[in-house]
Amino acid sequence: MTGNISLVTGASGFIASHVVQQLLEKGEQVHATVRSIKNKKKIKNLLDMQKRWPGKLTLFEADLLAASSFDTPMKGCSVVYHIASPFFIENKIRDGQKEVVEPALKGTQHVLEAVQKNETVKIVILTSIIHYPPSISTQLVGGQLFLGVPDMWFAIVDVREVATAHIQAAQLPDSHGRYILADGKTRGFVELARILRSITQSSRIPKNTVPNALVRLSGPLLGLSQKWLKLNLSIPFDIDNRPSLEQLKIVYRPLEETLADHYRSWKSAQSLAH
Ligand SMILES: NC(=O)c1ccc[n+]([C@@H]2O[C@H](COP(=O)([O-])OP(=O)(O)OC[C@H]3O[C@@H](n4cnc5c(N)ncnc54)[C@H](OP(=O)(O)O)[C@@H]3O)[C@@H](O)[C@H]2O)c1
Repeated sequence: MTGNISLVTGASGFIASHVVQQLLEKGEQVHATVRSIKNKKKIKNLLDMQKRWPGKLTLFEADLLAASSFDTPMKGCSVVYHIASPFFIENKIRDGQKEVVEPALKGTQHVLEAVQKNETVKIVILTSIIHYPPSISTQLVGGQLFLGVPDMWFAIVDVREVATAHIQAAQLPDSHGRYILADGKTRGFVELARILRSITQSSRIPKNTVPNALVRLSGPLLGLSQKWLKLNLSIPFDIDNRPSLEQLKIVYRPLEETLADHYRSWKSAQSLAH
């Protein structure tokens, strides 16, 4: 079978599951890889999508470390979105080379080997890696930072825009090369706190910034290394996201909306866990 089928790797993941959903919303046929189809809990949202869009989503098992793993899922596909990747919070990584770099490189190599064997594939979209601090908004709403927040600045993007950008990169004629996906300016931790305080009405969310010297002292408690703090304290910067606006036609939604939706999803995950 050939045609407009898209392959999405790592479909149980945060970004890839949004890409799968947006492709299905556009009426497309999707092949999606997961590590284990038996793990119904992990792939629940994909099983729900299969029910919502009958006959449109086929699941396959594939592992980044297994050569030829992607050959079968890729059969008949014209676009490959390779998003599967080991993704860890920095301070949880013990051996970065073994846990992150090797599987990411091997996986990409295996996916590209499958592409070479498959004449139907016309476009490959790759997702790259970022460094991400421990979940900042979760710490804020969880009340761990009630005394104040460090003077840190974050490049922020909503996962729905990331998913749209993947699809636009495959479908729009002007797209090529690499894109930075983020709002044009970094946003301060204290601003995130202000927005979250107004969304949650919680008095445990801080109003103030903590002096840098105090943050350096308490870095280990926050799970942040001194090296990371040196590179990230008090460094706001601008981001040239024009290619994503002009070529991918991305419209970045307001941070308030992203945080409000993030808070709702955090609350519902909390209530499901109890
Ligand atoms: N989230 C962000 O803020 C962000 C921002 C920019 C870029 N990125 C990059 O985007 C990519 C995906 O991020 P994400 O947030 O969607 O991560 P995620 O939710 O952790 O998803 C990663 C996916 O990769 C799969 N995977 C991991 N190891 C695998 C292996 N050995 N074989 C097959 N599949 C494997 C996971 O499968 P299992 O479910 O079986 O573990 C999961 O489906 C990463 O490269 C990340 O660095 C993330």
